[in-house]
Amino acid sequence: MPRMVICPGSFDPITKGHEDIIRRAAALFDQVRVLVSTNPEKSPIFSVQERMELIRDVCKDLPNVEVDSFNGLLVDYLAQSGAVAIVKGLRAVSDFDYEFQQAMANRAMQPQAETIFLTPNVKNMFLSSSVVRQIARFGGDISQFVPACVVDRVVARMTEANRKYLEKE
Ligand code: PNS
Repeated sequence: MPRMVICPGSFDPITKGHEDIIRRAAALFDQVRVLVSTNPEKSPIFSVQERMELIRDVCKDLPNVEVDSFNGLLVDYLAQSGAVAIVKGLRAVSDFDYEFQQAMANRAMQPQAETIFLTPNVKNMFLSSSVVRQIARFGGDISQFVPACVVDRVVARMTEANRKYLEKE
């Protein structure tokens, strides 16, 4: 049986840190499904379709990576997908509380739900989509933080977001 794992997240947008974790998972498991999921705490700047397109572009050289989306409980998706585990990136100690809570909540709801944590390359340890969005919004260079095919899309979206904000001020 091929062993498939789910890499869930907001991916708003996908960063080099996400890419790093997806590539590690793709080397360890037969199949990886990157799942654009709903985090009710966040208001994304990219639509689900846009985020999926960006991820597909970044992962196009990885034949065992596919992309899907789901608006619901991760454990419900997990149960019907046949995946053996959830794979998440753990960057620093600061991630631990949040990730541990999610993993425990998922297991409480579904005892078979395993969560595997992978660590990124040290140069991606501090990276997050929100840092990238903020740098892009104020004209900083994000090319070292996001895959090349993502840069222009993020810069355009964040420049637009900042322009709209200034109009309202
Ligand atoms: O990239 P993020 O925002 O840290 O990813 C968090 C995400 C989307 C994986 C998480 O919010 C999630 O699993 N959302 C689906 C709803 C759910 O199952 N929540 C976990 C139980 S509280």
